[in-house]
Amino acid sequence: MYLTRWEEKALSGEFGEALRISMEVLVKVCRSLKAERLVEISHAHVSGVSYFNIGDEGLELLEDLATKGARVSVYTTANPASVALLDIFSTRYSSSIVDKQRRVVELLIKMGVESKSFTCAPYKLRYPSYGEHLAWAESSAVIYANSVVGARTNREGGVVALMAAIAGRTCYCGLHLDENRRLTEYIEVEFPVDSIALASALGLYIGRITRGVPYIKLGIKLSGRARDIAIRSMLASIATTSSSAMALIEGVSPEAKKSLSDVPGEKISIELRDIRRLIEDTCSNTLYIGCPHIDVDEAKEILNILSKTGGTGIEKIYTTIPYYEFEYLTRLSENVGGVEVVYLPGVCLVVSDLSGVMGRLATIHGKARHYIPRLAGVESCLIGIA
Ligand code: F3S
Repeated sequence: MYLTRWEEKALSGEFGEALRISMEVLVKVCRSLKAERLVEISHAHVSGVSYFNIGDEGLELLEDLATKGARVSVYTTANPASVALLDIFSTRYSSSIVDKQRRVVELLIKMGVESKSFTCAPYKLRYPSYGEHLAWAESSAVIYANSVVGARTNREGGVVALMAAIAGRTCYCGLHLDENRRLTEYIEVEFPVDSIALASALGLYIGRITRGVPYIKLGIKLSGRARDIAIRSMLASIATTSSSAMALIEGVSPEAKKSLSDVPGEKISIELRDIRRLIEDTCSNTLYIGCPHIDVDEAKEILNILSKTGGTGIEKIYTTIPYYEFEYLTRLSENVGGVEVVYLPGVCLVVSDLSGVMGRLATIHGKARHYIPRLAGVESCLIGIA
């Protein structure tokens, strides 16, 4: 694999032990991926922030890197932590878990990670530009960057993204290259997408049939913030049920038009009856919104929609938002038309052990529906109320 003189020096330890380690990891990973060289990045996004996910081994790795003087060399954001980070939940976990979760966040900030981030929507803090090379490790953000922005990133592993943040480069392969951004199928959605939940269900379905980079022709009958949330939710859902990191949506993706000339194979039609079964009536009077993270204004838009639909029995809403939203909130809990709305900045319910902490969760997001029972240990259902 070709390395520049600077990269060779970094690999030999000339610029310190932390950079040497990150280069060594990157070179090994990139060689296994058959990358011919590295590519400089402008923004890294690291995952593996929940102590429940990384455990003591992950925490030790971060401690070790920090001790060796590791610092990120490019703008770097981080994924949400577990709810143990927040005071309103910390009494539900042992003090050891709470301390370790806080330590993970402290160490990342010490290494130079943007302290306001802790979100799975890093594009809300720094919107990438078209064609920019990134090393992002959150599947919902990766598919958004490739599909909606036209930036270029693979689905990096959490550790690789951290090494890329320190070295300022990643493997030049996969979706960094034109040839891997070609369409794999043409999908036409035969019904109007008029809710976030329907967009989510559609994404879960498309994820199951795509072989890589689907072209999606659909009519979204939503506007403004609700439309944005629906698109993000659909893309996150595709990335949940597949390893896909890119989808081209007609009228949304900057690369959609130019790719259309070489669509392979037959058109695939999706009918409403194909996905209706993914949406249930309800399973809980507690609703989870913000997967991927939404900001407070977007949460208010969803509350607005719920107030029009009557909310169908929802009594409490957990809303996960980026950490920087702390600045705008005067309180983390409010009563909106008889519904208790709880804002949870910088955390994710899915990456938290919720057994014994909360009960079943209804949601309008496909990714949350899929992972909550598997990772958080409580039941969930996808409901079509917004
Ligand atoms: Fe974000 Fe957690 Fe959902 S990281 S995309 S809120 S699973």
